[in-house]
Amino acid sequence: MGTRAPGRLQSRRPRVEVVVLPSAEDIAREAAGRIERRVRTNPEITLGLATGSTPEPLYEELGRRHRENGLSFAQARAFLLDEYVGLDPEHPEAYRNVILKEFVSLVDIPPSAVRSLDGNAPDLPGECVQFEKDIRAAGGVDVQILGIGSDGHIAFNEPTSALTSRTRVEVLAPQTREDNARFFSSLDEVPIHALTQGLGTIMEADEILLIATGSQKAAAVARFVEGPITAMCP
Ligand code: PGA
Repeated sequence: MGTRAPGRLQSRRPRVEVVVLPSAEDIAREAAGRIERRVRTNPEITLGLATGSTPEPLYEELGRRHRENGLSFAQARAFLLDEYVGLDPEHPEAYRNVILKEFVSLVDIPPSAVRSLDGNAPDLPGECVQFEKDIRAAGGVDVQILGIGSDGHIAFNEPTSALTSRTRVEVLAPQTREDNARFFSSLDEVPIHALTQGLGTIMEADEILLIATGSQKAAAVARFVEGPITAMCP
């Protein structure tokens, strides 16, 4: 059989690589290595930051590389994936505060270079439109760090979210509120609404690093790696 130069469509097809590693620490080192290579090549990188317990070891590893190996984020900027609606801006679980504590405080990225969604904006849809404009003005996200919910959600795009969806107000699924109740004093305290980048927004990132750790994520990972692409498991 003859060989054929890859056509345009072929070369544009997203490449998915699945890496299975024995521990969360190994995954953090692997992901940090990929991010470090891109930051060293392009110090003005735009990162997409995720909150949740999954990326914490990765942020710790990036902090270690900053302290010990001089890895610098001073010229980087970042966009957050999502934010609760209506939470006191001082609340420790407001995602801007989570990311300031778990990533920004460990490296040298200026807090002013981190764009989060304002879940208390008087005009929430307007805030979402402005957020999309800000991502475009930054030239798009170079590397997006992502987790996955046990119900298969990505950021706060719950099952049934359109694959082309943009940044918007989302109603949290009961499963997500129960999963996140561990960060609050009771389930009632978990907000019902959130702002989230859409699936269409997230998919425009140049590279996406989706991290899943723990057996509670196994079913969701099996569905998204092996199952059909559907709005039920984005
Ligand atoms: P987790 O959340 O990292 O706390 O498991 C992931 C997610 O809900 O996207």
